[in-house]
Parts: sequence; C-alpha cells; structure tokens
Amino acid sequence: MSTTPQTQAQGTVSNGRGADTVTIIDNRTGQSYELPITDGTLRGLDLREIKNGDEDFGLMTYDPGYANVAACRSAITYLDGDRGILQYRGYPIEQLAERSSYLEVAYLLIYGELPTRSELDGWTHEITNHTFVHENIKSFMQGFRHDAHPMGMLLSAVGALSTFYPEANRIDDPEVRHNETIRLIAKMPTLAAFAYRHSRGQPYVYPDNELAYPGNFLSMMYKMSELRYQPDPRLERALDVLFILHADHEQNCSTNAMRSVGSSQVDPYSAIAAATAALYGPLHGGANEAVIRMLMEIGSVEKIPAYIKKVKSGEVRLMGFGHRIYKNYDPRAKIIKEVADEVFEVTGRSALLDIALELERIALGDEYFISHKLYPNVDFYSGIIYQAMGFPMDMFPVLFAIPRTAGWLAQWAEMLLDEEQKIARPRQIYLGPEKRDYVPVNERPE
Ligand code: CMC
Repeated sequence: MSTTPQTQAQGTVSNGRGADTVTIIDNRTGQSYELPITDGTLRGLDLREIKNGDEDFGLMTYDPGYANVAACRSAITYLDGDRGILQYRGYPIEQLAERSSYLEVAYLLIYGELPTRSELDGWTHEITNHTFVHENIKSFMQGFRHDAHPMGMLLSAVGALSTFYPEANRIDDPEVRHNETIRLIAKMPTLAAFAYRHSRGQPYVYPDNELAYPGNFLSMMYKMSELRYQPDPRLERALDVLFILHADHEQNCSTNAMRSVGSSQVDPYSAIAAATAALYGPLHGGANEAVIRMLMEIGSVEKIPAYIKKVKSGEVRLMGFGHRIYKNYDPRAKIIKEVADEVFEVTGRSALLDIALELERIALGDEYFISHKLYPNVDFYSGIIYQAMGFPMDMFPVLFAIPRTAGWLAQWAEMLLDEEQKIARPRQIYLGPEKRDYVPVNERPE
C-alpha cells in the first residue's frame, strides 16, 4: 500500500484514533502523510514518499545493526526476549530439548511440521547416507597449514563443496533444494571432524553410518585404532540436545548473512560458507570461547568480586552475559545448565563450573546487571560442557555451525519462496567527498 500524502497544514490533521495508520507531519514542508501499519511495522519504502521537494530522494531510515528492522516475514522461530521464550515452529524449546532429536528438529525447521514415523525414518536414512564427502576434499583439507583454525577450514571446505555439486545453483527446483539440504546437514559434521583431525595431525575418520548423527560425529572426532568407536550414550544425548538448542535463532547475524547472500540466488553451499564466516566472529559464535578464557583469567571464586568491579567500570564485558534480544534469562542457558550436570557425571566436574556458578549468582543479584537486564546467554555454560567433552576451544564455533546449518537452510528456503523478498541491497548515507577531478600521480603534491 502506498502513502497518501495530504496537503494539510500542521495542526489540521484529523484525529485518526483507532485506524491502523500513523500520521507523520514533515515539518520541513508542513505536509502530513498517513502511513499504514501492518503487523506492527511501517513499510520502509512508504517513507520514500516523504519528500522535501521534487528533486528530493525521499526519507530513508538509518539503523546500523538493523536493531529495529523486520527484514522478512518468517514462520520458523519465535523469540520473545522479554519473557525468555524460544519456539521452533510453535514448539517450545524446552519440549524439543527434552523429547525430540536434532534430526527431527531439523526436519521441523525446514518442512514446518514434525515428521511422521515414515518421514522421519526416510529423512534420517537420507542424511545418514550422504555423510561421506568426495575424496578430493581430503586433499583440499591437506592444503591447510597444520595449525589452521578449524572454523576457517570448515567455511572454506563448505564453500568448496559447491564446485562438487554444480547443479546446486538450480535453486528454483524443489528437488535440488531438498538434495542439497540433505547433503549439507549430512556433510557438515564430516567436514568439521576432518578440520579437527587435520589440526591434530591425525588421520581423517570416515563416517560410521551405523551410528546416530551425534554419535557418528563423536566417532569421526575421537576414533583411533579401535574397530568401532562406541560413544557414551549420555554424551551423545547431551550433544544432541546442544545441537537442538543451537539449530535456529531467527534473524541473528549469520542467518542474516545466509539470507542476504542467498538473496543473490547463489547456491546454498556458498551461502552457508558466508553464514559460517559470520558465525566465526567473537560477538556471535565465538563468545563461548571468550567465556572459557574469561573464567580461566578469573582463576578462582575469590577473585570474582574484583572481576565484577572491572565489568561495572566498563573495563571488560562479562562474556556469556547479555543479548540483543533476550532481556531475561536465555531459555537455552537454563537447559544447558541441566545438561552440564549430566555431562559432568561422565567426565568429572570442571573446575571452571564453580567459578561460572558463583559469577552467575553474584551477577544476578547485582544492581548493574539487573538494571542493564544482563542475564546468562547460551554461551555462558556451553563452552564448559564442550571442554569437558574433550573439544578444544577452537572447535566451539564449529560445534555451533553444525546444528545451525538446519536453521540457515530453513531460513534460506523460506526466503527463496517468499514473493516479497528481493536481493538484499541496503542504502547508505554518503559522507565522502563531492565530485573532484583525477590528478595524475606526477602532478600530485608530495
Ligand atoms: N557485560 C557488561 N556490560 C554489558 C554486557 C556484558 N556482557 N553486555 C552489554 N552490556 C552493557 C553495555 O555496556 C551497555 O551499557 P550502557 O548502556 O551503560 O553503555 C548496555 O549493556 C547495552 O549494551 P550493547 O552493547 O548496546 O548491547 P547489544 O545488544 O548491542 O549487545 C551483545 C549484545 C551480546 C553483543 C552484548 O551483550 C555482549 O557483548 N555480550 C558479551 C558477548 C556475548 O556473550 N555474546 C554472545 C551472544 S549470544 C550468542 C549469539 O547470539 O551468537
């Protein structure tokens, strides 16, 4: 719907109470505009009608970090940050974490409904039978330095997969989309484990298709000379729950990268490489590593008050606390805390856990954190669990990328099928020089 510019002087606008519109008066011109409100939003393009003369481009919104932009309509994940609610396709995360499996959740996210028994069996079978990667991927991996970061290797390798599946760029074909979805969910753990083994100088372990999704990943990570790696079922279940919790989180930085890059209609491997790159950053997928480093730096429970002081003076941030959306306890952090107890039963208690628990206790009772609405987020406890399970810190973002692949693919497919979506192309406020003429190098002053 377009705007309805009205040439009304300020003060003569009728009281439109009750209408789903907002009236804006442009004080530069005295003109008023009635803009429709749909689903609690204004259409950005409607503002373009607000002009200060015929030559004017029209108003834009300025919102670095997209803090108040609804970039899409989505039916995948519901998040209420004030009340600490997270739902995938309407199902509360607590119920999914307790009763579902990662592969079932991946199906739910991508296809919108929980699968029937035969759909789940078919889906699991397809994914299990696509876990192998082309042998050349091994040589590709071997090209990396011995100390290459596994996340760097993962994002390169998943991008490289696009060259193995040239048909993947036929993104309009639902069968192609389905096949590439299966391949990506199936192969991310394989690439991730190869990256880990490379960084350890250990031989790559092929997938074991007799194992379930998380168990196979643990096997590819840790199997040595034994004929068959048998994952501890409690650790396997804990990893599956962590995968469920990380499977989607609506329009976060990496999902935005997936949608934005995918909007150019590139193949999904390239778009997932971009999303993985976004997840690599310390403010997104790297925060749980920062939590471990912080807990190690604090070192003991007695040193917590001094550290809290540094946080409150703005010297450092309390890593694993705070969230752009959650202004309440992150529901994922609650579930992870319970998982931690189960993991530590197998692995033994982590010394860092005591520091984390005390840090949380002090922070939750402190005026600074209360007034800033800073609560533990998903990363506060996940790193401690990963560490107890034997994962080195540089694998933490990789452990996030594996399950988030389902969310990225669900969001990508939704974006492709959304008739309103266009190539992502924001505007800017240009602050550079006015037009000026080129000066050859030998005529420029030194
Ligand atoms: N410790 C201390 N103060 C904080 C923290 C923190 N962790 N987070 C925010 N604040 C303060 C900040 O100093 C500011 O205070 P003031 O208004 O007095 O200047 C206020 O809270 C708002 O901060 P902001 O940076 O404007 O908030 P944001 O929404 O842009 O940032 C965040 C969100 C997650 C980047 C931030 O809370 C942070 O840096 N947290 C630590 C890193 C972290 O744990 N990241 C994981 C996020 S969850 C996983 C994911 O989604 O990838």
